[in-house]
Amino acid sequence: MNESLERLLARLEGPMRERTESGLERTLGARAADDGILDLCGNDYLGLSRHPAVVEGAREAVRTWGASSSASPLLGGYKVLHAELEEALCRWADFPHGLVWNNGFAANSALLGTLPGKDDVILADRLVHASMLAGALRSGAKLVRFPHNDLESLERLLERERGVKGCLWVATESVYSMDGDSPDLGRLAELRRGHGFIWVLDEAHATGWHGPTGAGLAEEAGVGREVDVLVGTLGKALGSAGAYTLLREPLLRRTLVNHAAEFIYSTYLPPSAAGAALEAVRRARALGPAGRAQLHGLSRAWRAAVGRRVAGVPDGVSPIIPVVLGDTQRVLDCAAAMRGRGVWVGAVRPPTVPRGGARLRVSLRAGLGVAELGRFLNALEEGLR
Ligand SMILES: Cc1ncc(COP(=O)(O)O)c(C=O)c1O
Repeated sequence: MNESLERLLARLEGPMRERTESGLERTLGARAADDGILDLCGNDYLGLSRHPAVVEGAREAVRTWGASSSASPLLGGYKVLHAELEEALCRWADFPHGLVWNNGFAANSALLGTLPGKDDVILADRLVHASMLAGALRSGAKLVRFPHNDLESLERLLERERGVKGCLWVATESVYSMDGDSPDLGRLAELRRGHGFIWVLDEAHATGWHGPTGAGLAEEAGVGREVDVLVGTLGKALGSAGAYTLLREPLLRRTLVNHAAEFIYSTYLPPSAAGAALEAVRRARALGPAGRAQLHGLSRAWRAAVGRRVAGVPDGVSPIIPVVLGDTQRVLDCAAAMRGRGVWVGAVRPPTVPRGGARLRVSLRAGLGVAELGRFLNALEEGLR
């Protein structure tokens, strides 16, 4: 071991010990393919990742295109299959231009890291995903965060930043990943009309679950046309992997293709993921308004059932139910006890959520029935004991 490596290990040791001692160390556990667990942890909201047609979409893509795209997009990795996926996503959410990415983290960090400049101001909800912050922080723009879903605060900031030299940006999600709640998108659209900002909307957790065709919450709220850049992921309700940005201005797409390092310098999304996603978009659309209404009913029913056992469970229809217990150790113990009963929910602790906000994150999936609800509630009661 040389001196540099010794110094590095010495430097890492303290912070990691602190994490372990405060019960906040993140550890990996590898799961078996068929572990019989009731999975209320993943984001496969429509259950498409194992849908035979989606799996066949991946297989067919591998047969036709091979197991890898084998290159970065500008050096041959961008195939007709990727272009077809882009077109399908544009048609779905009614945008003229789209770009597919290897994952949502790359899409968000590239978008906000590449397009805003040093004279710009980015107003971001306090709870936007880490990928948006990563981009915003390196963009050189001034980043101001407003209290979660507080559009009055946002309006005050918009007034304050009225004289900005560059561009004004607003970054929000439509369904927040750890809270499962949403801002008033109608009001955001109104604010955009009044203040002329560029609206970046991350629909990662709304795609498939919201909107008459499943295109997202902007579609459901009738404000799709007001969104300047819509970000969606392929690895959640679409049961595959990857992400997309949908854009109204072709110059934004050209700029990303030319300047976004995440796009340019990485082997492109594997054909299997693109093929699966293409099929998943068809399945998600086919669900229709009635299918979506059923999903929202499922969310209401599960929230009501959990709310009878734990205080503070918010109303809503999204697929994410936060069960905030507050204390980190209590969350860990509860989730472990539930796992012991074959039920897996997310145990989410700071810094992923604010201090004092440790929670179980229960994510729903199409097809969950009375039996699963019963199994979950039994495990939850045991966990809370
Ligand atoms: C709101 C939001 N945006 C973006 C991402 C990143 O997407 P991906 O998992 O495809 O990197 C996530 C979560 O993973 C998310 O919750």
